[in-house]
Amino acid sequence: MTNKKLANKVAIVTGAASGIGRAIASLYLDNGASVLVVDMPGQNLQEQFNSDAVQYLEVDITESHAPQRIVNECINAFAQLDILVNNAGICIAGDFEELSDEQWERILSVNVTSMFRISREAIPHLKESKKGRIINLGSIMSDMGGPSLSIYGMSKHAVAGLSKGMAVDLGKHQITVNYLQPGSIVTALSEPFMDDPAFKKYWEDKAPIGRLGQPEEVAYAALFLAADEAQFISGLGLNVDGGAIVNF
Ligand SMILES: NC(=O)c1ccc[n+]([C@@H]2O[C@H](COP(=O)([O-])OP(=O)(O)OC[C@H]3O[C@@H](n4cnc5c(N)ncnc54)[C@H](O)[C@@H]3O)[C@@H](O)[C@H]2O)c1
Repeated sequence: MTNKKLANKVAIVTGAASGIGRAIASLYLDNGASVLVVDMPGQNLQEQFNSDAVQYLEVDITESHAPQRIVNECINAFAQLDILVNNAGICIAGDFEELSDEQWERILSVNVTSMFRISREAIPHLKESKKGRIINLGSIMSDMGGPSLSIYGMSKHAVAGLSKGMAVDLGKHQITVNYLQPGSIVTALSEPFMDDPAFKKYWEDKAPIGRLGQPEEVAYAALFLAADEAQFISGLGLNVDGGAIVNF
């Protein structure tokens, strides 16, 4: 008898070379899962995880064959798939009038379209799991707008809508679909913004807990949603934001 929450489970985590994705993959490994970690070419995934239960794939998830490659790699390595964490994401910030068509297309492609395409590819295997899990990375920006964050917010609102619709369609296969809504978390993605002391202070103060979050705190929520005990939770956007969103 093991008390590891994810014993005998197999997970895919995209964007696992950094920040929240790395923390989720590490926590899943600590809890007994086997994990396919995915990130961009050149991210040296192999150096970041020291475990026999890890398989690595370096690919840009927006490439046309990436979803098939990712799922095939997982099935070839572990012969099953129970948990898909669509974590890879980018933030493009800019004054609305200065934003380009290319920036719009790129953020949609990484943050939303890839989530749709990888999930679709994974579904036959998640059905077989009988307790399949899809955990998508939304944001506090799935519920609100922010200065210079119009297209990032657009993508994260889309994550919320997509996740809710998927939860409705996939429930009959015992697949749950939820999305996490981190507030301001200390990672490479948020680092450039935090160079501005006023911006950093704003987010520290906005969270009643009084500080920025750590990737491990988001990973803990991803562990909760992946566990068998969370089988009756679907379509939820779970805030991991120190209370920032309810603090007007
Ligand atoms: N950090 C925050 O404050 C915060 C807040 C809310 C939501 N989020 C979301 O959490 C998720 C993880 O963000 P993070 O803060 O850990 O960022 P991060 O930059 O530290 O990590 C993101 C990872 O995704 C990878 N990635 C990006 N585009 C990719 C692509 N096309 N193909 C493969 N891999 C790709 C990057 O290489 C990187 O390793 C994102 O979806 C982000 O929008 C972050």
